[in-house]
Amino acid sequence: MNVNVENKVVIITGAGRGIGRATALHFAASGARVIVTDLNEETAHSTVDEIEANGGQGLAVAHDVRSEASWNDVFSQAEAQFGAIDVLVNNAGIYLIASIADTSVEQWEQVMAINVTGTFLGAKLVTPYLRKQGGGSIINMSSVAGVRGSANHTAYGASKGAVSLLTMHLAAELGPDNIRVNAVTPTLVKTGMLEYAVTETGISAEDFGHQVSTLGRLAEPQDVASMIVFLASDQAQFLTASSYMVDGGQAWAAVAPAKAKPSVKELQA
Ligand SMILES: NC(=O)c1ccc[n+]([C@@H]2O[C@H](COP(=O)([O-])OP(=O)(O)OC[C@H]3O[C@@H](n4cnc5c(N)ncnc54)[C@H](O)[C@@H]3O)[C@@H](O)[C@H]2O)c1
Repeated sequence: MNVNVENKVVIITGAGRGIGRATALHFAASGARVIVTDLNEETAHSTVDEIEANGGQGLAVAHDVRSEASWNDVFSQAEAQFGAIDVLVNNAGIYLIASIADTSVEQWEQVMAINVTGTFLGAKLVTPYLRKQGGGSIINMSSVAGVRGSANHTAYGASKGAVSLLTMHLAAELGPDNIRVNAVTPTLVKTGMLEYAVTETGISAEDFGHQVSTLGRLAEPQDVASMIVFLASDQAQFLTASSYMVDGGQAWAAVAPAKAKPSVKELQA
């Protein structure tokens, strides 16, 4: 199946590195025009440099997803450059591993401001642009931590749970305007967030690979990017209000080492 996103104008937040960067490169390689935003302007430019070096079209914009004024600047630059907006990927986010006792109110508020308020603002402010186009697609970045509990993830997990529910409510409200809203729900992905998790927990990347997926490996940024591009494509026109697991089976299948299987002899006994 060919996944068509050609000529769509796609905004991806936090696309200076990690999953956002991989997603921006995938969209551009598929013929989309990509607005790469990031708090770190230098990295946003570096992603666009790579898009252009590969023959694609991109625009880098410095952006803080917590600020309404900053969002309005992104949308006016996108419209001025490309004439329309078709897709918003609310990818920017921060991670926090901390027990509830060690989580300060300031940390809680920072996680909520970027992960939840940032997503809310993006969806709210992009809607008039999508309505003008006769529809469009919003894709929000959730996490396995947003659909089930794990120790030391109170603030982060609550923020991603909010993103998943926000997705369903937005989809219900915006469906009549032909605006589809979905979320992507990855397990641990090989980005700076993995390095942070390794440092905070002392668990090696290899061990994490066995703990977080039935496939025995961590997710690559590209694994998540493929799902996001599909959800934005013409082939996903009836998909809305769902969270798509990109988790190697982590959430719903028990992750157990093969040697834990009972042998035939034990079964017969
Ligand atoms: N890596 C994982 O294991 C994993 C798993 C599940 C979900 N996620 C989610 O995927 C998304 C991307 O994660 P990643 O692993 O690529 O992270 P990353 O840290 O590599 O990249 C995040 C990007 O967001 C930018 N950013 C941070 N705050 C911002 C703000 N206020 N405004 C604009 N940009 C801002 C950063 O500068 C950075 O470039 C996040 O929402 C994260 O929660 C990641």
